[in-house]
Amino acid sequence: MARLSDCISFTLFDEIHLADCLEAELGIKKGKLEIHAFPDHETKVRIKSEVSGKTVVLICTLNQPNEKILPLLFSAMTLKSLGAKNIYLVAPYLAYMRQDKAFHPGEAVSAKLFAVLLSSHFDGLITVDPHLHRIKTLGEIYTLPSKVLHATEAIANWLFKQVKNPLLIGPDAESEQWVSAIASHHQVPYAICEKHRIDDQSVQTYIPEVDAKGRTVVLVDDIISSGASMLVLLEALKQQEVQHILCITVHALFDVALEKRLIQMGADAVFSCNTIKHTSNRIDLSSLLIQGIYDMIL
Ligand code: R5P
Repeated sequence: MARLSDCISFTLFDEIHLADCLEAELGIKKGKLEIHAFPDHETKVRIKSEVSGKTVVLICTLNQPNEKILPLLFSAMTLKSLGAKNIYLVAPYLAYMRQDKAFHPGEAVSAKLFAVLLSSHFDGLITVDPHLHRIKTLGEIYTLPSKVLHATEAIANWLFKQVKNPLLIGPDAESEQWVSAIASHHQVPYAICEKHRIDDQSVQTYIPEVDAKGRTVVLVDDIISSGASMLVLLEALKQQEVQHILCITVHALFDVALEKRLIQMGADAVFSCNTIKHTSNRIDLSSLLIQGIYDMIL
């Protein structure tokens, strides 16, 4: 248990809004951390605040993880060497969860390897809806204490204010955990499709028969990345002459070009939670994260 006055937060990249909320809501002061990129692309980290004896909340969402992981680990190691008592990682998006088994002989199980890296440098991890599928809990692969927060209530509250008569559709078996949780908040119908991934950019999906008459179809997934899972559904729903379709995701890993393509293919709009800074962000999870941080470290 830490005291609020002994806590300090640092952000590495785009997460200043969350550090601002932590300061406003819990009075946790923001520390100064500088990342310098040398011409040869090496990175220097400099901690410019006193951290000796303090509990550190290090905020770093882990999209584009390969670029971020070294600055993140250098920061954690430097904080420790400067005497930080505990370092908690707040990663609203936790990367490398989808390669959760060796699909072909010789493949790395990246989820486990990434877990080893983070577990050896942090004292706790807080994240939102990691892609738990074949691995059922973070505790199976992470050896540090972890707290998993769920965006489903925030999504449900937001969605049911925008849409009167939704029908939720999840693209694959994994998505049922999110889709059913959102649907249960207002007892709305939902359907889950069967998906087979062919490669990084393409999937085959079987949609069960749905009666979308008079309803807005809301496609819900934890992640939109290549967009293949959403595009194939949009195509199929177009064939069924469904008029109104929205796409909602927790973690927006896609670019503007894909957002435009989803709209061209029939989505009225694409919305996401702000676990990753993105033009589609509409659903704010700051309160959820602040409560999660409070519960874990205080
Ligand atoms: C995987 O099973 C996830 O739940 C998502 O369905 C998947 O990551 C989406 O990826 P993409 O947008 O590339 O189809």
